[in-house]
Amino acid sequence: MLKIAPKPSIPLVARYEAVRALTLALTAPLSDADATVQSMPDASPAKWHLAHTTWFFETFVLRDSVPGYRLHDERFPFLFNSYYEAEGRRHARDRRGMITRPTLDEVRAYRAYVDAALVAALPDLPAAAQELVALGCHHEEQHQELLVTDMLHLFGENPLEPAIWPAAPKVPVAMPAAIRWIERPAGIVRVGHDGDGFAFDCEGPRHDALLVRHAIADRTVTNGEWAAFIADGGYRDPAHWLADGWAWVKAEGISAPLYWEEQDGGWTRFGLDGRRGLDPAAPVTHVSFYEADAYASWAGARLPTEFEWEAAAQAHDAAGGNQLDAAGPVEPRPATNAPGFFGDVWEWTGSAYRPYPGFRACEGAVGEYNGKFMSGQFVLRGGSCATPRGHARASYRNFFYPHQRWQFTGVRLAKDV
Ligand SMILES: [Fe+2]
Repeated sequence: MLKIAPKPSIPLVARYEAVRALTLALTAPLSDADATVQSMPDASPAKWHLAHTTWFFETFVLRDSVPGYRLHDERFPFLFNSYYEAEGRRHARDRRGMITRPTLDEVRAYRAYVDAALVAALPDLPAAAQELVALGCHHEEQHQELLVTDMLHLFGENPLEPAIWPAAPKVPVAMPAAIRWIERPAGIVRVGHDGDGFAFDCEGPRHDALLVRHAIADRTVTNGEWAAFIADGGYRDPAHWLADGWAWVKAEGISAPLYWEEQDGGWTRFGLDGRRGLDPAAPVTHVSFYEADAYASWAGARLPTEFEWEAAAQAHDAAGGNQLDAAGPVEPRPATNAPGFFGDVWEWTGSAYRPYPGFRACEGAVGEYNGKFMSGQFVLRGGSCATPRGHARASYRNFFYPHQRWQFTGVRLAKDV
């Protein structure tokens, strides 16, 4: 079950309003056209994110728990239900870019209608409905990150490659030192959410995990190190690659991370701040699980298991590092050897996204939230520069298919000792 205990110092209504305001702020630079186009089936239009997160509150809270509530528009559930089979038929995911109407302004009006109803109803909602409001806030934070990465992908498809946000001010930093290995003993560790505060159902139950003696890197792999992998023929030598990964490299013609381009003999990358020269000190990002695994093989290492990662990260501040703040998103910042496991890039682990021992999906439609996706995907840990600060935890499990790389996905190495 969901474990939700909103901190008394942050009333739920203030939390709700802050989350909703940030989503709107993230879309402020967009025109109606920017917010409507769908760049690929995996990505959704910004307008759809704005409406779908609103549909979540309207359906699971207002419709189900507020007597007399009238839907803003009875046609919207068909358009803005994502994948909830229990909620009936819905528009095809890969056709979301066809929704030219409602307009962006009409979707904003939908948000305002639901916000007014929800804020008015919140004090009198039963505890179970308040838990769904809290879940809806965390759900919307997940969509904030998708919104940012989907916009990045969309703008990357435009030959003009517009910048969405201005570049963060350059702070001169030294290149990070070579990776230092943090040795960790064999033994049994406690992993999973411990029941204090919010967690998604897939983070529990908390349980024991057996770790072998291993070492984990003190920082993520940098662009400069990745360029050396490319220069060494990393994308041309099947010896480094899983069979599925090698098939993907050949079928898709992959030769570098997503958004990298060679110009005038040097690498550039496209980011939220437009196309710029590659920063060799910044963590590599927009790499697939296949690429992460191949790099680790080339480097004589491996990916950490999700529990090796979690055990090492438990002592670190989950709200630290370069994460999304109200000022708007920024690109990953140069890696440092200062210990820290959160922010900049999600880190691929070698662990399959599967249920923990004793996992039970929630009852009702929200039981479809996580459990049904536990097939064929790998776990990522840590949070990125597009993860709203405060959203990630040591026990947080993000998950994507092994070929996907439009999120801010990077690599931390581990090795057996
Ligand atoms: Fe969703």
